[in-house]
Amino acid sequence: MDFLPYSGLLPTLYLIFLLSSSTWIVSSAFGVHSDLLLCLHSRYTTTTSTSMPDLIHTPLSASYPSVFQFSIRNSRFNDTSASRKPIAIITPNTVSQVQSAVLCSRLLHLHVRVRSGGHDFEGMSYVSSAPSQPFLLIDLINLRNVTVDVPTKSAWVQAGAVLGEVYHSIASASETLAFPAGICPSVGVGGQISGGGYGMMLRKYGMAADNILDAHLVDAEGRVLDRAAMGEDVFWAIRGGGGNTYGIIVSWKLKLVPVPARLTGFTISKTSERNVTKVVDRYQHVADKLPDELMITLMLNRIRSTASQGQTTIEAVFQGLYLGETETLLTVMKQSFPELELTQEECTEMSWIESALYFAGYPNNTSYHELLNSRSSSPVQFDKVKAKSDYVQRMLPAKALQGIWKRFYQVELGPPLMQIFPHGGEMSRISDSSIPYPHRSGIIFKIQYYAVWSGEGKEVEKRQLDWIKGLYKFMTPYVSNNPRGAYPNSRDLDLGMNDPTGNTGYEQARVWGEQYFKHNFERLARVKAAIDPSNFFRNEQSVPPFVRMTGRV
Ligand SMILES: Cc1cc2nc3c(=O)[nH]c(=O)nc-3n(C[C@H](O)[C@H](O)[C@H](O)COP(=O)(O)OP(=O)(O)OC[C@H]3O[C@@H](n4cnc5c(N)ncnc54)[C@H](O)[C@@H]3O)c2cc1C
Ligand SMILES: *[C@@H]1O[C@H](CO)[C@@H](O)[C@H](O)[C@H]1NC(C)=O
Ligand SMILES: *[C@@H]1O[C@H](CO)[C@@H](O)[C@H](O)[C@H]1NC(C)=O
Ligand SMILES: *[C@@H]1O[C@H](CO)[C@@H](O)[C@H](O)[C@H]1NC(C)=O
Ligand SMILES: *[C@@H]1O[C@H](CO)[C@@H](O)[C@H](O)[C@H]1NC(C)=O
Ligand SMILES: *[C@@H]1O[C@H](CO)[C@@H](O)[C@H](O)[C@H]1NC(C)=O
Repeated sequence: MDFLPYSGLLPTLYLIFLLSSSTWIVSSAFGVHSDLLLCLHSRYTTTTSTSMPDLIHTPLSASYPSVFQFSIRNSRFNDTSASRKPIAIITPNTVSQVQSAVLCSRLLHLHVRVRSGGHDFEGMSYVSSAPSQPFLLIDLINLRNVTVDVPTKSAWVQAGAVLGEVYHSIASASETLAFPAGICPSVGVGGQISGGGYGMMLRKYGMAADNILDAHLVDAEGRVLDRAAMGEDVFWAIRGGGGNTYGIIVSWKLKLVPVPARLTGFTISKTSERNVTKVVDRYQHVADKLPDELMITLMLNRIRSTASQGQTTIEAVFQGLYLGETETLLTVMKQSFPELELTQEECTEMSWIESALYFAGYPNNTSYHELLNSRSSSPVQFDKVKAKSDYVQRMLPAKALQGIWKRFYQVELGPPLMQIFPHGGEMSRISDSSIPYPHRSGIIFKIQYYAVWSGEGKEVEKRQLDWIKGLYKFMTPYVSNNPRGAYPNSRDLDLGMNDPTGNTGYEQARVWGEQYFKHNFERLARVKAAIDPSNFFRNEQSVPPFVRMTGRV
C-alpha cells in the first residue's frame, strides 16, 4: 500500500463534473445514482476485475435489502423509511475502492456513512435522521483480513472484521496472546475501537483503544494515511474519539497482550431484593480495588422467582475473569469479597479463547471455530434496544439501589438490564488525556442501562423509552456530574445532536461532546478542523471542526 496522496481519479472526476450540471447535486435520487455509478465505474473497471454489480447496491438492485439488513443489530432501525436509508451501498473489496467511494461521494456532494459491525445503538452507521441528505453507505464487510505476528506480539486487522474473527485468529496463532476488547463477538473492530472498547481484561490492560500501535485511515481527500503520515494528533483522535469523524479506518494494528495458558472464569447469581442489596453494596466497596488480574462484572435484571411462583424478583449475576488459577482466585476472594460466597463449583479453568466463548454465552464446550460464525450466530443479541451510560465516583447509597429495584419492577415488557463494569487497576493509572477516553482515575465503575424489547409499535417503544429516561433521571444525584459522563460506544442521541445540515456549531456539540470526552473534546475538534475542515465525515454526534467563539476580528 502506498501512502502518497491519491490522484489517479481526479482527471476522470473533473470530466464528470464538467459533463454534469450543478443541479444534479440535490436532484432526484435516480440522477445521483447514475452519477455515482458512472464515477465509481470509471474508477473500478480500470483498477479491479470485480464487476460493479457485486460492489454497488442501489434500491433497484435485488441485493440491496439483504446487504442493508445483514449487519443491522437493532431491529428498531430495520424498517426505517426509505428517506433515512442509504441511496446506495458499496461493499469494497480493496482499500483503493474505499478511496474511490470517498472521492466520488465528495465530488457528487453525497454524504457518507461507514459501517463495520453495525452495532451502533442508534443505528448511526446505516440510517440518518436527515432525510434531506442522501448518503452512500460504505459497508466494510468484505475488508476483514486478520494477520497475527506472534514474534512482535501484534496483529493487523481490517476494520470490517468482528471481534470473534479477531479472537479466533489470535488463538489460532498462540495460546498465550490475547487482545483486550469487547465481550460480544459480533461487534466490529471499526466501530468499537473508534469509541474505546472494554471487556473482561479492562482492569489489567485498559481499553482496546489503549492497545493500538498503528492504523490506516482513508481521509476526506481520499488519501491512505498510516500513523507516521497522519501525525500523532490524528492518531490520538482516532483511538476512541468517535467513528465516522476523522476518516475511514481501514485497518488497525493491535498490540497483543500476554495471558496465562489457564485462567479462571466464574458465574454466580444472587436473587431476592434483600440479598442482592447486601452483596451489591459490598461489591461497590471492593470491585475497583481487587488485583488487576481480577475483573468482576455485575448484571442486574429482573426474573421470575422460583421460590415464590409468579412473583418477580431482582437478580444479580456476577461474572468474573481471573488471569490465574482457581485456587489462587478462591484465596483472593476469601480475603477481599467473602460475601459473594464463591466456591470451586462456580469456577471453571480454561484458556483465554474458551473464556471469550464463555463470557459471550456460548454453550459449554463450544469449539472456538464457532467464533468464525459470530456475525450471524452470536448468543449476545438484542431485538430492540435503547442504551444509556453513567460513571460512578461515589458508592451508591441504599436508597439509590431501592429506587433502581422499584423501577425494575415497573416495565411490563422486559427484561430491564443494568450492567456494571468496575474500573480501577490499569484504568485508573492511564492518564485521562492519553487517548480521547477521559473516564479514568476516580471512577469506581461504569453503568450501562438497557431497555430491551421486541414488541411492535410506537406505543410499546414509547413505554420503554420513557422507562429508561426515568431511570436515568432518577440516577442523576448518584453519578458523575458537570459534565455527567457518558461512554461514546453507548451512543445516546438523547444527549444532543448535530444540526442535520452539517453546520453544527462547536458550542452546540460541546454539550454532549464533553459528556463523552470531557476536556479532550476541544482537542478532538481541533484535530477535526485540521484533518477534515469541511466536515465531510459526520453524523448526528460526530465531533465538528473547532471554531473560536470570540467575536470576529
Ligand atoms: C450486542 C452489543 C454488545 C456490545 N458489547 C460491547 C462490549 O462488550 N464492549 C464495548 O466496549 N462495547 C460494546 N458494545 C458497543 C459497541 O462497541 C459499539 O456499538 C461500537 O461502536 C460498535 O462497532 P461496530 O463496528 O459493530 O458498529 P457500527 O455500527 O458499524 O459503527 C459504529 C460507529 O462507528 C463508525 N464506524 C464504523 N466503522 C468505522 C470505520 N472503519 N472507520 C470509521 N468509523 C467507523 C460508524 O459510522 C458508527 O458511527 C456492544 C453493542 C452491542 C449492540
Ligand atoms: C430485519 O428484517 C429482515 C426482513 O424482514 C429480517 O430477515 C431480519 O432478521 C431483520 N433483522 C433484525 C435485526 O431485526
Ligand atoms: C486478504 O488476505 C488474502 C489472503 O492472505 C489476500 O489474498 C487478500 O488480498 C487480502 N485482502 C486484502 C483486502 O488485503
Ligand atoms: C439469601 O441469602 C441467604 C444467605 O446466603 C441464603 O440462605 C438465602 O437462600 C438467600 N435467599 C435467596 C432467595 O436467594
Ligand atoms: C457448563 O459449565 C458451568 C460451569 O462451568 C456449569 O455450571 C454448567 O452446569 C455446565 N453446563 C452444562 C450443560 O454442562
Ligand atoms: C465439556 O468437556 C469436559 C472435558 O473436556 C467434560 O468433562 C464435560 O462433560 C463437557 N461438558 C459438556 C456439556 O459436554
